[in-house]
Parts: sequence; C-alpha cells; structure tokens
Amino acid sequence: MTAGTRDHTLLELIGALIEPAARPDPYPVYARIRELGAATLDLPVWETPGAVISSYRECEAVLRDPRMSSQRGRDRRLADMMPPGAPSSVGQRWFLSLDPPDHTRLRRLVSAAFTARRIARLSGRIEELVDGLLDRAAERDRPFDIVEDLAYPLPMTVICEMLGVPAADHEQVREWSSRLTRLIDGFGAGPSEESLDGLLALNVYLNELIADRQADPGDDLISELIAVREGGDSLSHDELVSIVGLLLVAGHETTVNLIANGALALLRHPACFAELRDDPALAEAVVEETLRYDPPVHITARVATEDMELSGVRLRRGATVVLLLAAAHRDPAEAENPDVFDPHRPEIRHLAFGLGPHFCLGAPLARLEARLALTRLTRRLPAPVLLQDPPPYREHVNLRGPRSIPVPRPAP
Ligand code: HEM
Repeated sequence: MTAGTRDHTLLELIGALIEPAARPDPYPVYARIRELGAATLDLPVWETPGAVISSYRECEAVLRDPRMSSQRGRDRRLADMMPPGAPSSVGQRWFLSLDPPDHTRLRRLVSAAFTARRIARLSGRIEELVDGLLDRAAERDRPFDIVEDLAYPLPMTVICEMLGVPAADHEQVREWSSRLTRLIDGFGAGPSEESLDGLLALNVYLNELIADRQADPGDDLISELIAVREGGDSLSHDELVSIVGLLLVAGHETTVNLIANGALALLRHPACFAELRDDPALAEAVVEETLRYDPPVHITARVATEDMELSGVRLRRGATVVLLLAAAHRDPAEAENPDVFDPHRPEIRHLAFGLGPHFCLGAPLARLEARLALTRLTRRLPAPVLLQDPPPYREHVNLRGPRSIPVPRPAP
C-alpha cells in the first residue's frame, strides 16, 4: 500500500469510527487501523500533519517520551469559549494538559489526597453507597438500569462527597458535567449553546463553592486543597477552580464506563459472573481485564515538541499524535487472544490509566469503586440476564460507554 493510499484508508477508518453505528463495537475498526501501522493524519483543523498510532509498543513509547507534550491547547480553549468577564474557568489550568514544571507543581500539591492508603479508607462508605443504590433499584417498579441506577450515581456521589459538594446539588452538578463531557469528548458536533451554558453554570458554581470554603473551611477535599502549603507554595483561585473541575469530571465520567463495561462483560460471560459472585478475590482481575478489554477512555493525544520520526512517520514540531489506547489493548503482539475477555490471563497489561508523568491520579479510587460495585452486583442480581444486547451507547467516541444496561431487578 502506498503512503497516499494508506493516509486515505486511515481517514475513511476514522470516519467509520466516529459513526454511531461503530459505538457498540468499534474494535473491528481499531483492528484495521492497527494493521495500517503508524500513519500520517492530516486534518484540516491542524496546522501541521500529525500521526495516529495504535500498537501497544508505540503507545507505551509515546506516553513515556519526554519530547511529547501534553499541552494541547484543547482544554485552554474551554476557558476561551467563555464570555468576557465570566468567572475563572475549568480547563484554564487543567494539569492533565500542562507540562513540567507547571504540571509537576500542581500534581504534587494535589496528589497527597489521592494516595492508595487514603483511598482505601473510603471502602466502607463506598460499600454503603453501592448497597443503598441496589436496595433502591430492588424497590423500583421497573427493570434495573445498571448505568442510570448504579454506574453513574456511585462515582458521582463519591467524588462529590470527597469534594464537599452538598447532596442537594449533586444532580445539578451531574447535569453540567455531562454537558461539559460532550464538549471535551472532541468528536461531537462542536460546542452547542447548551454545552457552553452548562460550562458557564459549572464555573459560576465552582467559583462560589470555593469562595464559601475559603471563608468557612470544612472537612473536605476543597478545604484541604485551599490549605495546602508546600515550601511557601499554594494553589491560586484559578488553579483551584480548574483542579476541582478536573477532579469532578475525571472522577466520574470515566468510572461510570468502567463499572458499566465491566458489568456488561460479566453479563455476557456467565461463568465469570458466577465465579466473581462466589469469590470476591477475583474482582481485581475482573476490573483489570475490563480496563484492557473495553477501556473507559479510548483515546489520548500528545504534541511533538521538536521535529522527529515516529515509527517511520515524519513529524514536524507542533504535530499532534493521536494514541488509540483501546486499539493498543487488542494488539495481538501484546496479548494472546486479545479479543477474548479473560480475567484469568497470566498477565493483564493495559494503558487505560495512561503511563508516565500523567498516569491517572484517580486510578486507586476508580479501581476500588469498580471492584466493590461489580462484586456486589453479582451477589444481588438473580441471574446474568441482559434485557437488551447490545445496549444503547452514549454518543462519545473517546469516553465511550453504554447509555443504559437494562437487567431484571436485583434481589431485595
Ligand atoms: C489522568 C483515565 C478515573 C483523575 C488520566 C489519564 C487517563 C485516565 C488515561 C491520562 C491521560 C493522558 O496522559 O493523556 C481514567 C480512567 C478512569 C479514571 C479510565 C476510571 C476508570 C479517575 C478518577 C479521578 C481521575 C476517579 C479523580 C478522582 C485524573 C487526573 C488526571 C487523570 C487528575 C491527570 C493526571 C496528570 O495529568 O498528572 N485518567 N481516569 N481519574 N485522571 Fe483519570
């Protein structure tokens, strides 16, 4: 295949990936993209042609490569979308999209709150929340929707409680946050008035919440972040708005997919479902295999900080490199029978939480929530039955996951 034909085929495949028809199962398209190898991608919105990479080895190398920047401008654009005079915006100082030294500094100031030890202390409260959600689902006079009734409210409540968002505001924050997710997924129809209004409302809300805590500190993460002092350094108001917004969105829009994708895999593999029900120790492997087999985040990107060659693709400084993490996870050079869901595989490797300096700060929390939710789900569901297969999917290409998973009601 000539380079020109390959570039054209890649564009067609990216088009197929974005089509709603690919949402229930994008993996055959990913396989075809992977077979092309690292390839040039020249999008009209880019100033310089970029590249798409989809093999495990290449994705791993790019995530570790210090010549690759995370500063994509994408999140900064969220702030630029706001009207003049609007309050400090989410996205302005999002450390997910910053490089050292700014990234190193902000991450250090926040990371103390997310150590595995501190997260483990939340397990009692998470169990209580899962049981409460399952109890309510058992009482309802309709089928149980694993997404709406469990996978969504659990991480949303956990991160809101950690941050100290009052319970009465959770539903509203959820609504704004899902509008913001539509903006950042990057493959939608572009910013709509609805999503921009949502972003503005969330910004106003977070600015007020932070100001409240500054005046009257409580026993919550926002108050803790306000109080962080390290060698005379502390977080500015703009930084606090961005960080709280990042934790709020990253804290649940991804974990909802992990719980939903894991539940779906278990329902489609009744032997695994029964095994987890009888042996909670299998939860760790089930969650890791879900992260590999059907990850909550499919795509990330980096920008080349110098002219370079990447697996035969020449890149100019400023070129965007798109990493198809979900394609890399099914790379046959990395995992045996990659298209099979098998929590018993000898080694489960994935890049679902990224790698290197930007490795997901919330990984211990997401893992804990998913392990507890999936284990308890297998105990409470009368049988592994899916009322709709495939289930309907949310429109997101990157933060891809089911919109709803209807199943028979859990046992009381
Ligand atoms: C970063 C995935 C849950 C907070 C990341 C990255 C990925 C990711 C892939 C790195 C992106 C890159 O390098 O380009 C996920 C998945 C989750 C999840 C799959 C759930 C299953 C969470 C939770 C939180 C969180 C629960 C917080 C409560 C963050 C933050 C970063 C991040 C703050 C930025 C880290 C940095 O730039 O240093 N996540 N995440 N994530 N995640 Fe998560």
